[in-house]
Amino acid sequence: MKTLTPTHISRRGLLQFLGAGSAAAVSPRWALGAGAGPGDLKPGTAPSCGEAVDPGRAQEWQKTLAWWQEAKFGMFIHWGPCSLASVEISWPIMEPEPQWGITQDEYVNLYKRFNPVKYDPTAWVELAKAAGQRYMVFTTKHHDGFCMFNSSFTDYKITNTPYQKDVVGMLADACHKQNMPLGFYYSPPDMHHPGFRDTSKLARENWHGQPARPEWPLYLHYMELQLRELLCRYGPAVVIWFDGLDHQEKYDGYHFVRMIRENSPGTLVNNRIGVPGDFETPEQRVPKRIPVKGVRISGTNPAEANALPSKLPNPEEVKPWETCMTINNTWAYNSHDRNFKSTEHLIRTLVDVASKGGNFLLNVGPTPEGTIQPEFQERLRGIGEWLKVNGDSIYGTKYGPLQDLTYGRTTAKGNSVYVHVFEWPKDKKLEVPDLGTRVAKVTLLAGGQRLHFEPVGNGVSIEVPAQAPDSRDTVLECAVY
Ligand code: GLC
Repeated sequence: MKTLTPTHISRRGLLQFLGAGSAAAVSPRWALGAGAGPGDLKPGTAPSCGEAVDPGRAQEWQKTLAWWQEAKFGMFIHWGPCSLASVEISWPIMEPEPQWGITQDEYVNLYKRFNPVKYDPTAWVELAKAAGQRYMVFTTKHHDGFCMFNSSFTDYKITNTPYQKDVVGMLADACHKQNMPLGFYYSPPDMHHPGFRDTSKLARENWHGQPARPEWPLYLHYMELQLRELLCRYGPAVVIWFDGLDHQEKYDGYHFVRMIRENSPGTLVNNRIGVPGDFETPEQRVPKRIPVKGVRISGTNPAEANALPSKLPNPEEVKPWETCMTINNTWAYNSHDRNFKSTEHLIRTLVDVASKGGNFLLNVGPTPEGTIQPEFQERLRGIGEWLKVNGDSIYGTKYGPLQDLTYGRTTAKGNSVYVHVFEWPKDKKLEVPDLGTRVAKVTLLAGGQRLHFEPVGNGVSIEVPAQAPDSRDTVLECAVY
């Protein structure tokens, strides 16, 4: 199997291109530190990634997108001081109806005890690789505003914890060394910044942000400074993964997309900053039909179901997308949440996603010590074992030609159609309806055993073993003309 690496976003190349370190690259700006009060401006230096982009490189994100769509499977990581309290990240201080048993004061002060001494980013990257995941996306700043990187523009950050080390920097180094593309989740909502909301009030009273206040532009400037830090100091980034929640138009998304394109032309941008972005982000669910351009796929609410065409779209109509999902029910570490999805369920979800042409971003919430809990590891390694044998039916595939099989799913690549069987037939015969082309050969993808088949109508009937070789998903490869 060919290993795909985004060579066009190599670190050296990007740094050379960005002119890092050159005096001409740095322009003076003004910054409002998040700890400061409104109007308390202090001079700062905006990290700038360099001169205006060479127009020849302006479309580099399209190459990244093509690579990303083949990569299919990534690791999402939600981490912060909240892991100490086994509560969801940010929401305990935002939700109008408190349900996590922690006050805002307790929550925002957790960082004073955060000391993840067992944090080993190399081990995280190795785990992602063992799971067959081909990129990672990390929460650099969630809605609570706490920065997991050593930002020059706030004091509410990882280097001011007892741990003191820059966890984003360490992860970026480990990823770059191990050739693992890394993306940055960055939340536009920021409960800590006095430009985002009046922080003399509880966050649950104004967590949507207050764009009508005169401080708002200062907050947008703070976002820009931090995004420049992430792109230039910790990059190259495969994606900036925004999470704008509601009324995203208040973030002036076009400005940020243009800034990212100018400074890091190979970086993708998702669709949660009020502009369409490079890909859609359904959350905790797989769309019922193949997403197409022009239909917005919202996070948790499947409003798009009827707007998507029921017949197979043409390849150029398809919109890239990525389902993000938790393994239990919490994004951050929560020792009380024992509601783990099974390895079988997760494998089938990955297959379901691939059958509709999407990507799967599967989340882990690391512990307060910095490790990834055994229940997550076991499932990730289980998926990886399955992918080792069946990866050809996932990586580099496109949506399958048969979208309504009752017993499984299909994916396709080159001259192969992969039939994923979840419900094994009882009578040793598997019926595959019309593939729109002639079948030349059928094999079991794991092991390569050839299977006898005969035409039935426009489809084929395949003679299969009595028992499913893999009850989670057995893949048959149909070579077609
Ligand atoms: C939601 C949640 C947020 C989480 C994100 C991941 O938007 O607000 O907590 O990070 O989903 O998609």
